[in-house]
Amino acid sequence: MKLIRVENYKEMSSKAAQLVEQQILDNPHSVLGLATGSTPLGLYEQLIQGVSERGISYRHVQTINLDEYQGLSGDHPNSYRHFMNEKLLGHIDISLENTHIPSGKSLPVEAECQRYEALIDKIGPPHLQMLGMGTNGHIGFNEPGTLETSLTHCVKLEASTRSSNARFFSDRDSVPTHAITMGIQSILKSEQILVLASGKKKAQAVKRFLEGHTSKDFPASFLWKHNHVTLIVDSDAYSLAA
Ligand code: F6R
Repeated sequence: MKLIRVENYKEMSSKAAQLVEQQILDNPHSVLGLATGSTPLGLYEQLIQGVSERGISYRHVQTINLDEYQGLSGDHPNSYRHFMNEKLLGHIDISLENTHIPSGKSLPVEAECQRYEALIDKIGPPHLQMLGMGTNGHIGFNEPGTLETSLTHCVKLEASTRSSNARFFSDRDSVPTHAITMGIQSILKSEQILVLASGKKKAQAVKRFLEGHTSKDFPASFLWKHNHVTLIVDSDAYSLAA
């Protein structure tokens, strides 16, 4: 695993943007794996600027997102599809039909999970998968206890994850109880993985991650099974590992 230590969130976002843009320059037909959450917002702002300021084009790029809330349609303001369109996809020169996110409304949900995993295999796997990390070590919505062999599946969200995500909703009870997520195995199919962590609240998770012991109690630890993982971490997030 490659560790890149930076000072703060802004530097983390710039460094990540450099790596993503280099991937696109190296292969204009790249498939990017994308995440939602607060962590990649600065990265996405930089990528948007990169289109006008650095001439980066997403005309041939395809994207595959990690996860979506079950029960929310793509135009729901709290859906991850809406988030991605608002924060990145609607502001770069990508064709929305080349952007893929599980459908939160498709039933039966098992069929949607199978369709999505087949899509990952067909157009992907991603050349570069971006990940944030939950304070409990979750990646995507793979909560502690998730098997390493898991493919795209439906999960019941942990109370801690629902509470943490409640900041985006009007109240905690509005946070969906279930989600569709790429599994650990789906994520590990990616050619390269870029993990971002910023801020004191991630310090404990970063410390545990860097210990390097693989355990299903801490899903991010399965990333140690992959040969091309880069962690970009700022000084607050690294503070307990130092
Ligand atoms: C997002 C996702 C989650 C987040 C994680 C960290 O698509 O799958 O695993 O990456 O919850 O969230 P933030 O970045 O908000 O701290």
